[in-house]
Amino acid sequence: MKILSGTSNLKLSKNIAKNLKLKLINTNIRRFADGEIYIEINENIRGNSVFVIQSTSNPANDNLMELLLIIDALKRSSAKTITAVIPYFGYARQDRKVAPRTSISAKVVANLLTNAGANRIVTVDLHAGQIQGFFDMPVDNLFTTPLFSKFIKRKITSKNLVCVSPDMGGVARTRALATRLKADLAIIDKRRPAPGKSQVMNIIGDVKNKSCIIVDDIIDSGGTIVNAVDALKKQGAKEVFVFITHAVLSGEAARKIKNSKIKKLIITDTIDNSSKIKNNNKIEVLSISSLMSEAIKRIANSNSVSDLFN
Ligand code: R5P
Repeated sequence: MKILSGTSNLKLSKNIAKNLKLKLINTNIRRFADGEIYIEINENIRGNSVFVIQSTSNPANDNLMELLLIIDALKRSSAKTITAVIPYFGYARQDRKVAPRTSISAKVVANLLTNAGANRIVTVDLHAGQIQGFFDMPVDNLFTTPLFSKFIKRKITSKNLVCVSPDMGGVARTRALATRLKADLAIIDKRRPAPGKSQVMNIIGDVKNKSCIIVDDIIDSGGTIVNAVDALKKQGAKEVFVFITHAVLSGEAARKIKNSKIKKLIITDTIDNSSKIKNNNKIEVLSISSLMSEAIKRIANSNSVSDLFN
């Protein structure tokens, strides 16, 4: 078994390799003057099971293309199996036709990864579970719920907890956390009047004087979360903590969080945000590296991955 890293999140890849007591495969990844990508693998990987770690985060197209070319290089170098480990799976939010003539980007990405030569996908909190069905190969979708619940039990002492889903799509994820914490559940009825804009219509459930835990897969512009926090506070919530797996944090999102009524935003390192969140004392990062290393180890040894979440 060997590990290779793309350039999108080298820090996470190094931590995973360290946990597995492995060295990253010596690889040369360069850009030509016109932006095209060049991949060269500098060691023999013939017959190896190779795990390629690459988040397809911003710049999504470049990072995706880099991943596809790495997979192609591995295939042409006679790797035995190629597992694409994609901590943040970009383009997942377009998982169905939302209007008559739109594309389904998650399916296009699935086809690209398949045709490039991947044999298996490992990812974290996939935006929609059904994307697994876009692939005709195993897809291991890892969950952050145990990581988040452990943190909450250790750090948030309030007994009056309610887990809040910021929209209908996140209810299953939120219910899983509420069950672990033996907490109540509330749901926000969110609408999108225009792309990139969100509006809270109603809050379903009792949040008055409670410590609210919002959980979501992605924070992008920050609009969904900031609006949700404002609405919860207006309904009498005592404090609001937010747990997000993939901190896309586009544009002014990090500043918006800093100026918001959020008590703390806890994110993971599926996306490397070191520079964006420097000096932002409202944001704390929980590393996903142990969970990912353990999952990789179990896959390599043909052991159960789902046991990690029981
Ligand atoms: C949507 O279904 C996702 O789970 C997130 O709620 C959404 O992507 C967040 O976007 P933003 O931060 O731009 O409101």
